Amino acid sequence: MKLTILGGGGFRVPLVHGALLRDHGEGRVTDVTLYDLDTGRLSAIRRVLAQQAAGARQSGGTAGEAPRVTVTTDLDEALRGADFVFSAIRVGGLDGRAADERVALSEGVLGQETVGAGGVAYGLRTVPVAVEIARRVAALAPDAWVINFTNPAGLVTEAMSRHLGDRVIGICDSPVGLGRRAARALGADPEEAWPDYVGLNHLGWLRGLYVAGRDELPRLLADPHALTSFEEGRLFGADWLRSLGAIPNEYLHYYYFNREAVRAAQEAEQTRGAFLRDQQRRFYAEMERGDGPALEAWDRTRAEREATYMAENREAAGAGERDACDLESGGYEQVALALMRAIARNERTTLILNVRNRTTLSLLDTDAVIEVPCFVDAGGAHPVSVAPLPDHATGLVCSVKAVERAVMSAAESGSRATAVKAFALHPLVDSVTVARRLVDGYAEAHPGLAHLRA
Ligand code: G6P
Ligand code: MN
Repeated sequence: MKLTILGGGGFRVPLVHGALLRDHGEGRVTDVTLYDLDTGRLSAIRRVLAQQAAGARQSGGTAGEAPRVTVTTDLDEALRGADFVFSAIRVGGLDGRAADERVALSEGVLGQETVGAGGVAYGLRTVPVAVEIARRVAALAPDAWVINFTNPAGLVTEAMSRHLGDRVIGICDSPVGLGRRAARALGADPEEAWPDYVGLNHLGWLRGLYVAGRDELPRLLADPHALTSFEEGRLFGADWLRSLGAIPNEYLHYYYFNREAVRAAQEAEQTRGAFLRDQQRRFYAEMERGDGPALEAWDRTRAEREATYMAENREAAGAGERDACDLESGGYEQVALALMRAIARNERTTLILNVRNRTTLSLLDTDAVIEVPCFVDAGGAHPVSVAPLPDHATGLVCSVKAVERAVMSAAESGSRATAVKAFALHPLVDSVTVARRLVDGYAEAHPGLAHLRA
């Protein structure tokens, strides 16, 4: 079985490879093709993977079982013969992410890569590239399943689904993490808990948590001690969670505490994108320099990235450090692998995924990509029916979906007016004038958006 990873020189590829090494089942991935534009990044990651495979061989069991890894800068070659395609690209690199943040923050609005003005800018740059990939997949590997990791994941998945239908599925590990943390806070086994979660990517709410058929979320909401024992509880505070009657995805901190989040980002020594840009520059340079312990260097860098995740928000909320159990990676690659296995081997499971709505949420049309628990089997991902969104969530979800649609149409037409509309309609952009200046700023900062100049 052939897995192609687009963005194969990306920093998180070893997470996926590590999970593949732990998979000894029948029908596992035998061939991994890494596709990237940058050969330096490809060889760096290839070195990490080789050391990972050697380590797995030494610790026994997997001799001869590690997937064959090949690298290429030719997209068509990468796609031919692929059974699964993981799309994890970053258009404009981390320099682009840092520029997205800078332009937004200078206008006093949020520059985060998936939320607010930053998410709109990143979407405008990414959609055309993702759509081109989708077209190539449809032409060269029409039976392949595409698993989209590329942010803003909901929007990018929807743009790709216009060419690939239900053969593209978007993933994110934030909802799984939330379900797991909430279950642990209740003293329940996360594997036995069923999360009633729905929304858009990075814009969803946990409305119930069923353990042995009983909704235990009310018990959690009633217990301030348990409620503030985990990340989301500390970010949002027990009172606000009780007012909502639900636990929001961590990214909703940018909405509910927008002023504090913008201020924290403005006051931070470095934005998240700039921090990761410098961190990864150091890592890839170290890889280029020599034959040192690549895996160790990678793991050290990874641990530092995990520890500082959403640090500004936690600081603004006085939420303290991350819990030890949240620092281990696992979510991201486990969701991807579980999804791939469920489809490839008909290992039926349920996962929270980004898929087309069909009739799940009546307030959105059937093609709108939403994030929802899905039943997965060899036929793909089928959203399960869920209760309607609570009133306070419907407005946000509809507004943000309208923004996503404007981004897709601006990306397709190249229209400045539509790009302005995308920014201006976002609930976290507070003026049409600001939206116009944002378009000017992004057209200036990104060569790929130069056509949006006034
Ligand atoms: C979470 C989010 C992802 C994001 C990742 C890394 O898992 O759900 O969408 O890509 O964190 O965030 P970072 O700020 O480290 O790039
Ligand atoms: Mn995510």
